[in-house]
Amino acid sequence: MFFGKVSWVLTGAMVMGSGADIIYAGVNSAGGEFAQQNLPGAFGIDYQFVNETAIDFFLKAGVNTIRIPFLLERMCPLATGLGPTFNETYFTEFQSAVKHITAQGGYAILDAHNYMRYNDPSSQPSSGSIIGNTSDPKAATTASLAAFWGELSKRFITNPNVIFGIMNEPHDMPTQLILDNDQAIIDSIRKAGAQQLILVPGNGFTGAQKWLNTTCSQNCTPNAEILTAIHDPNNNFAFDMHLYFDNDTSGTHPDCTLSAPTNLHPVTAWLRENKYSALLSEFGAGANPTCFRTLNDTLTFMETNRECIGWTYWSAGPLWGDYFLSVEPGVGVQSNTTWLQVLEPHVGRYAPMRRCGVSGRGWGGEWVEGCLGVKLSG
Ligand SMILES: *[C@@H]1O[C@H](CO)[C@@H](O)[C@H](O)[C@H]1NC(C)=O
Ligand SMILES: *[C@@H]1O[C@H](CO)[C@@H](O)[C@H](O)[C@H]1NC(C)=O
Ligand SMILES: *[C@@H]1O[C@H](CO)[C@@H](O)[C@H](O)[C@H]1NC(C)=O
Ligand SMILES: *[C@@H]1O[C@H](CO)[C@@H](O)[C@H](O)[C@H]1NC(C)=O
Ligand SMILES: *[C@@H]1O[C@H](CO)[C@@H](O)[C@H](O)[C@H]1NC(C)=O
Ligand SMILES: *[C@@H]1O[C@H](CO)[C@@H](O)[C@H](O)[C@H]1NC(C)=O
Ligand SMILES: *[C@@H]1O[C@H](CO)[C@@H](O)[C@H](O)[C@H]1NC(C)=O
Repeated sequence: MFFGKVSWVLTGAMVMGSGADIIYAGVNSAGGEFAQQNLPGAFGIDYQFVNETAIDFFLKAGVNTIRIPFLLERMCPLATGLGPTFNETYFTEFQSAVKHITAQGGYAILDAHNYMRYNDPSSQPSSGSIIGNTSDPKAATTASLAAFWGELSKRFITNPNVIFGIMNEPHDMPTQLILDNDQAIIDSIRKAGAQQLILVPGNGFTGAQKWLNTTCSQNCTPNAEILTAIHDPNNNFAFDMHLYFDNDTSGTHPDCTLSAPTNLHPVTAWLRENKYSALLSEFGAGANPTCFRTLNDTLTFMETNRECIGWTYWSAGPLWGDYFLSVEPGVGVQSNTTWLQVLEPHVGRYAPMRRCGVSGRGWGGEWVEGCLGVKLSG
């Protein structure tokens, strides 16, 4: 263990026991962003957000958080552009998935799965204009991204159980522009009146293992040097981080060869020093003994360092087929291995994950004890 454990008090409640510091735990339910080369695509064929039976399975198993990716080009069709005008059909499909989770007391992370790019998702993560690139006449503006989030957050303003995952995995762009975009979104969400937790991403695919490092040759200044300027008037944000365990941290190889969780020590020290929290919204590893050990040790590390407020595994989802990281109940390649043998035992130790009230960063801010299993109106 890297840091000694310090006991701390949540607003109004002392949380006891192992896993005490984990406020949010669960899985991604990927699929809403699939077949991104087909716009708008057909619901249930090209894309689908959740299988409701699968969500029920996870909530019953004690999980309290599901991250739901969506594609900006589907939510805001190219014809009207990025901004406050939505495709109401796609929005309604997304909203229905969110409601299925939050109406049961779970938390839903709304994940704009766009790599800080908009207008051509066909070859994600690299295609499309970088949002806010003023040298690219085809690029969507920072203001239009902020307007988008103002509208989306307003639509969920009365649902305390949503969390705003403002952008998935920005990369290969100036870190300063990521800061500008992140800050404009935060300002817009708060101006709309939404109070919920905001997850703030950084450069380098928001990789936790390189948060203190330069992530590309052109202006990819370390996140640790730039993102300290983030300001949230509600003081209710956490950094959004990802971590994979294969040789290039891409999550595309079954072998775990990186020294996790040792590679989390620098970023954890930075979080602690600056009194920040982080949520690991993507991590995934092959189904083999080395990976099981690495995952298990990483989960234990998160549980013993209060800077980490939660995690969502990559990934469940209704359309994965035989994808090697799928934990979709019954059908996923890892449903009977990684889920059952590694993840579920940790979740079991967190039980009951009772949370209620506006999603929050867990310490230092306003936060209310909660109620998984209680029906909410959202
Ligand atoms: C949801 O999953 C169940 C069980 O695997 C399956 O029978 C059902 O067809 C799925 N429904 C959808 C809409 O994908
Ligand atoms: C809106 O989304 C639906 C469902 O994906 C799709 O059928 C429809 O064509 C879309 N409309 C526009 C204008 O993109
Ligand atoms: C911004 O757009 C210009 C013009 O298309 C392009 O040359 C440049 O590479 C873009 N910036 C980044 C960081 O990709
Ligand atoms: C990342 O940055 C840290 C802090 O500056 C440094 O100690 C470490 O060697 C760097 N790692 C790599 C791979 O560059
Ligand atoms: C990672 O491992 C794969 C084999 O699993 C190999 O093909 C690839 O070259 C390796 N990449 C790096 C960066 O070492
Ligand atoms: C995970 O680690 C804990 C303690 O570090 C240990 O008790 C447990 O057996 C491990 N689980 C697996 C599946 O390796
Ligand atoms: C997992 O186990 C269940 C129950 O034994 C079984 O129905 C299912 O087919 C298994 N799934 C996989 C992917 O092996």
